[in-house]
Amino acid sequence: MSSDPIVAADEDELARVAAAWIAEEVRRAAARAGRCALALSGGSTPRPAYERLATEPGMPWSAVEIYFGDERAVPPTDPASNYRMAREALVDRVGLPAERVHRMEADDPDVEAAAARYAALLPDRLDVLVLGMGPDGHTASLFPRSPALGETRRKVVPARSPVPPVDRLTITPPVIASARRLAVITAGAAKAPLLAQVLRGPWRPEELPAQLAREGTWLVDRAAAAALAAR
Ligand code: 6PG
Repeated sequence: MSSDPIVAADEDELARVAAAWIAEEVRRAAARAGRCALALSGGSTPRPAYERLATEPGMPWSAVEIYFGDERAVPPTDPASNYRMAREALVDRVGLPAERVHRMEADDPDVEAAAARYAALLPDRLDVLVLGMGPDGHTASLFPRSPALGETRRKVVPARSPVPPVDRLTITPPVIASARRLAVITAGAAKAPLLAQVLRGPWRPEELPAQLAREGTWLVDRAAAAALAAR
């Protein structure tokens, strides 16, 4: 059974708690290994946490390499780009050089080659992996009943989303399983029943891919945690 999530009163406090969690884990990894491979989630929920993280004092940003858990097949300047969101919310604010921010080139027409290139870029293990949870229980771009869920060898594969932007690149279950520290940031009443199923329900990651992160640290707001007490 997964450990209890860390519950914040509201989305503002969730951003503060999530930023502090990421900051602490980045500092630890940098202290331990002199570097930190940090992989960020896309979507809308983590953005305020990234903005807060950008204001954290004394961060070892010179030791940090940024990766992504997934990306949409859009240019890096597109509003739907996870890379763009992370640049605006964090990367450009802390002055991380471009060569240490690794975008998934999901808009490459040869998406298989782009997946292989990114897999080659990834370290053996991510030090800190941040994920989210979609309304259908997906995480990264691992959607329910997706063939990518059965992937045991490749680290990055093309994926198709049931909602636009359809074409994606995503990390695979082995990358999630091997991450040294893992957090899932999710919020809102609409996700409450789903969160209860993911954390307390029977093990069925084919239907609820976010369960692949069940043993991680879940950072949620009170609205999303509302159905947990009942379980
Ligand atoms: C993406 C994400 C995805 C996201 C969830 C939750 O590219 O869409 O990486 O896995 O985390 O869809 O998104 P929200 O935070 O917007 O609810």
